[in-house]
Amino acid sequence: MNVQLLGSAPFGESADLLAIAWTEGASDPPEGLPDALAEALSGAVAAGDLRGKTGEQVLLYGSGEDGPRRLLAVGVGPEAELDLEAVRRFGGRAVRAAESARVTHVTVAVPATDSIDPELALQAVSEGLVMAAWRFTELKAAGDDPPVQVDRASVWAGPAASTSAVAAGVAGARGENLARELQTYPGNRMTPTILAGRASQMAERAGLEIDVWGRDRLLAEKMHALLSVSHGSVEEPKLIVLTHSGGQAGDPPVVLVGKGLTFDAGGYSLKPPAGMEDMKYDMSGGAAVIGAMQAIAEMGLPINVVGVVPSSENLISGAATKPGDVIDSRAGKSIEVINTDAEGRLILADALAYAATLDPAAVVDCATLTGAVVIGLGHHAMAVLGNNDGLVDELKSAGETSGERVWPLPLWKEYRKQLDSEVADLKNVGGRPAGTITAAAFLKEFVGDVTWAHLDIAGTAYGDEPAPYRRKGAYGVPTRLLFEWVRGRAG
Ligand code: BES
Ligand code: MN
Ligand code: ZN
Repeated sequence: MNVQLLGSAPFGESADLLAIAWTEGASDPPEGLPDALAEALSGAVAAGDLRGKTGEQVLLYGSGEDGPRRLLAVGVGPEAELDLEAVRRFGGRAVRAAESARVTHVTVAVPATDSIDPELALQAVSEGLVMAAWRFTELKAAGDDPPVQVDRASVWAGPAASTSAVAAGVAGARGENLARELQTYPGNRMTPTILAGRASQMAERAGLEIDVWGRDRLLAEKMHALLSVSHGSVEEPKLIVLTHSGGQAGDPPVVLVGKGLTFDAGGYSLKPPAGMEDMKYDMSGGAAVIGAMQAIAEMGLPINVVGVVPSSENLISGAATKPGDVIDSRAGKSIEVINTDAEGRLILADALAYAATLDPAAVVDCATLTGAVVIGLGHHAMAVLGNNDGLVDELKSAGETSGERVWPLPLWKEYRKQLDSEVADLKNVGGRPAGTITAAAFLKEFVGDVTWAHLDIAGTAYGDEPAPYRRKGAYGVPTRLLFEWVRGRAG
């Protein structure tokens, strides 16, 4: 979608569909609307159909000459409670209304209140527009009556609005849409090789350096934990490394690491059949890193960033790793694989050990790592754990801004005991108690003394709940959170 910032107010201009936000108790139509539309709007308020409640929508019709043909008033709740997420959703609702009206161009007026920063509001509305317009059509035949693709948005945010806020919103949302696309492809159409190919395509277009390691290089680099997970599969594992050199040469990079497990059947610790198809989403962390790297490159952020995506399938064969096997790892620690379904931490162990060799300023990994995080936090926040409180706070704050929220869990040393093994340096599972924490405690063993945080995204990366700017399935989370955090680091 193309998003354009308007230089003058749209209320008296022709438009296919103009969306305005209506706060609770508001009474005055925006200045400049044609009289007939202003009266109709006041009529909707008087009738009690437009009270400003969140999600309420009133659609009115005009001549389309000295004003919009369609005017959509969207309730956004009390003015004092208006936040960035409400603005993002407002942008999404405008696109959904355009789809229903079968028009491809939508115009929106961004709500201005004292409670939110106008630049961030403009960024948020741009995100809502671009994310709402995304859909996945690749694997269906085109029907007789294809859905309308809304491909143009005009945004009014007052005379002083900045195009850079729009650019940031669009870049973040496009990155998130790329992540959603990669997530949506099923396992047979999104193998490690295909994922690496898509990352290469993106890198070429966006101007990133890319390096893809296959089996031979992984062996030479001693990435035995990643290799062991791939042993049950005929698909070659990959380590994808994307590099953005926006900072000074030699400046320590920030490193984003994402789990790229393209299908997780569990291995010999086989998962139950019900819902196993969702394990195509086990590469969501990797998809978010690829999406965030695209956004970072598009914005030309003045910072060095490396994206690392370890990618494999987790299947069964005569060559597959068995429960009880002891494997090596890049960091030199031996691992007793008690449960082959705890494979994410194995491929991340090697990726994090590699990240630690890049002399990083900070490392953030994201992974659909544990079912336990869904029990703990549900679908409204990812868990954050790490070895540095400052970094955890930065991620919390980027989570608030992006609406992709995170909540901390402790990573005290006492949890490490649950990983003690009789035969190896550590085992890969810590039993039932605190499953999300012991998974992070495992990862911690492989980052050395590098500043690091881990995001467990198993409850937030995908789902069945459509929102104004998302559809069922892949959510692309936490692409915008990572992008926002790196933007903050870039200053
Ligand atoms: N990919 C799964 C985690 C997961 C579970 C993601 C549910 C999304 C929804 C991961 O590889 C896994 O299987 N984790 C196990 C770990 C256990 C064996 C210690 C889990 O959470 O059950
Ligand atoms: Mn698993
Ligand atoms: Zn997994």
